[in-house]
Amino acid sequence: MIVLSLLLVLVTLLGHLALWTWLYNRLHASGFSTGVVLALEKLTMVLVTVSAALLTVEMSSRRPFVSGAPWDGVDRLLMAYALACWIMLGRVVFKWIGQRSSPRDQSALISNHTERLTMKDHAGDRLIGRRSTRLAGAIPLNQILDVHFQHKTIRVENLPESLHGLRIAQLSDLHFTGQLTPRFFETVVHRANAWQPDLVCLTGDLVDKAACIDWIPETLGRLVARCGCYFILGNHDQRLPDVSRLRRALTDVGLEDLGGSAVIRTIAETPVLLAGNECPWFPPAPNLPRQAHAPGSVPIFSILLSHSPDQLPWARREGFNLMLSGHTHGGQIRFPLVGPVVCPSRFGVQYASGLYWEPPTLMHVNRGLSGVHPLRFGCPPEVTLLELQNEDWRP
Ligand SMILES: [Fe+2]
Repeated sequence: MIVLSLLLVLVTLLGHLALWTWLYNRLHASGFSTGVVLALEKLTMVLVTVSAALLTVEMSSRRPFVSGAPWDGVDRLLMAYALACWIMLGRVVFKWIGQRSSPRDQSALISNHTERLTMKDHAGDRLIGRRSTRLAGAIPLNQILDVHFQHKTIRVENLPESLHGLRIAQLSDLHFTGQLTPRFFETVVHRANAWQPDLVCLTGDLVDKAACIDWIPETLGRLVARCGCYFILGNHDQRLPDVSRLRRALTDVGLEDLGGSAVIRTIAETPVLLAGNECPWFPPAPNLPRQAHAPGSVPIFSILLSHSPDQLPWARREGFNLMLSGHTHGGQIRFPLVGPVVCPSRFGVQYASGLYWEPPTLMHVNRGLSGVHPLRFGCPPEVTLLELQNEDWRP
């Protein structure tokens, strides 16, 4: 009986965590202002703790959910809440089984060569700026300095012949906070330049602290690409007191701002539409040039930079061929068998990282380089080189 009772408490608490994680993920996918998000985050933490304590006490009692006045109302409320927890846990298990039984389509990925740069071995403490980060970095299996440079060769539908072999370096979620020093990012930039990409795309969450804007000339300012370096901003950039100062600092070193805009560039004598969607944090979505959808003409090959993968439905509606995103950090902590749990998206962990083919759009979600919480387990930082191929790959 005691074992059964303990099991029931455990199942309910797991459902409780699933319910609040669901809410947490959606909160961080919303376009609420930073102050509102942080206030709601604190409130969430209090409610999670209080409701877990109340549930545990109630379910450990001799007659759970049954007692006389004056507690009848509270009992009924806790019963209803426990029921919601069980339903939520059932939903999570159902989705997990669904994902296991039908793995996502990875046929767009031709090859993936990963080069690990374990920076801890190379430059040690010079890469970490804070004592707390140094302590976190010393936790066994924490991968904050174990950067994976991933060269992914991908098949892209309707890629013009002239763009076959186009190389795009994607860097995302650098989070200049001071936890990692400029030296860390200089090393990353140096290694990314060694790929000799045609394009560089920065997909948001670049700078958290205003003082770190001064790092840009020596870090992101050194990025080199034959056909240009482009950027958009993310929700953490929104936290700066003066976002326009960040945009200016980036454009001053030669990066092009695609936030809420679209341009047509000629690459290998072929027009390519490059657009940036910073919704929901910096609306509106870009107005696309008429040439991109001229009736009767062949659509221009199009690439979208969007911080959040939640803009995938918009990208599909607009017919984008390729979409580059970040924001999720791959979940930062991936549990064996379970995978990521926390993912700031209205789709939960569905688009945590990697390639997603949802016609007509192929989306790549980058795990990012850093974060405000210096913890990464089973989810190393990522810099990606996407090499586009146009061979007929549909089964
Ligand atoms: Fe981020």
